[in-house]
Amino acid sequence: MEKIFLDILRPDDWHVHLREGEVLSNVLPFTYENFGSALIMPNLDIPITNISLADNYYNEICKQIPKAAKFTPNMTLYLTDCLSKDEIRKVSTHKHIKAIKMYPKGATTNSDSGISDFKNFYHLFEVMEESGVILSIHGEVTDEKVDVFERESVFIEKVLTKIIKQFPNLKIVLEHITSSDAVNFINEQSMVAATITIHHLMVNRNIMLSKGIRPDFYCAPILKTEYDRRALVQAAISGDRKFFLGTDSAPHVEGKKIASCGCAGIFSSPLAIPLLIQLFEEHSSLKKIEPFASKNGRAFYGLRQHKDRVRYVKRPKSIEVIKDIKTSDGKIKVFNPYNEIYWEKEN
Ligand code: NCD
Ligand code: ZN
Repeated sequence: MEKIFLDILRPDDWHVHLREGEVLSNVLPFTYENFGSALIMPNLDIPITNISLADNYYNEICKQIPKAAKFTPNMTLYLTDCLSKDEIRKVSTHKHIKAIKMYPKGATTNSDSGISDFKNFYHLFEVMEESGVILSIHGEVTDEKVDVFERESVFIEKVLTKIIKQFPNLKIVLEHITSSDAVNFINEQSMVAATITIHHLMVNRNIMLSKGIRPDFYCAPILKTEYDRRALVQAAISGDRKFFLGTDSAPHVEGKKIASCGCAGIFSSPLAIPLLIQLFEEHSSLKKIEPFASKNGRAFYGLRQHKDRVRYVKRPKSIEVIKDIKTSDGKIKVFNPYNEIYWEKEN
């Protein structure tokens, strides 16, 4: 039988949570084996709020990356009022720190140090705009009066449009967009791009809630409707330079996911690329994987394009894939809504 394969420029993950300690050691191989680089989020138990903490975290990660791996970790700083203008100027020329992440207080895992009033940060946005530092945004309001499914749309309307109006040349990434409103908004912008996760491309809130609750599909921002999911798929397969892959892979052990107050986050790094290929194949869009997963993010972040390609092979029968990883605090489930996986990386 003829071998079916796909060669793609090495993909990058523009939004990932690697955690620290034992979890870091367990999850990191899935990132360095599958991606050429990754933008590593700063929401650790002690958030990465300055360059020195980011350098230490970078070193902890690098120690565990084998020399043969063709992988570059890119770091982020957590925006708090401890950040100074001077520190931002240093970020603009720093080798590994590529963005400053803004979390609204209380929006997600470890966001207690997040911001309450974005207007208090205008003096810092000004320096970021001047020095070309990218602002990465978790785009949700946390006002209890706003319905959880509307948090992103309200954020765009009430917060993001104001920031853009005030700082038209500030480069912004609206992270893990979930709605057709967000896709439409990004389409109208010139300095704002967006990451899209695998899970928001593949599952919707019905799948999460209609036949019994699926805590493994619970994440922030929460899954939206089928209509929204389709809008995200259209954005991803469009090849448009403003949309690129950020898995938002966010490992939590089973005991924290299946609980009376479960954590938001989906661990998707291990099967992210095979799932993405399968999805793009279903939409007859395999040619658009490279812009979405390998090229657009690098262009937005001003990095040289990868030159080397990785080969994925399509097996005639569904292959045996990893279901979870084990830690001393319990299992971490791997996102796999298809169950049947046909594509695998050729080593
Ligand atoms: C992330 C986490 O667990 O760190 N959770 C999630 O649901 N996406 C944080 C985040 O990006 O919101
Ligand atoms: Zn995230």
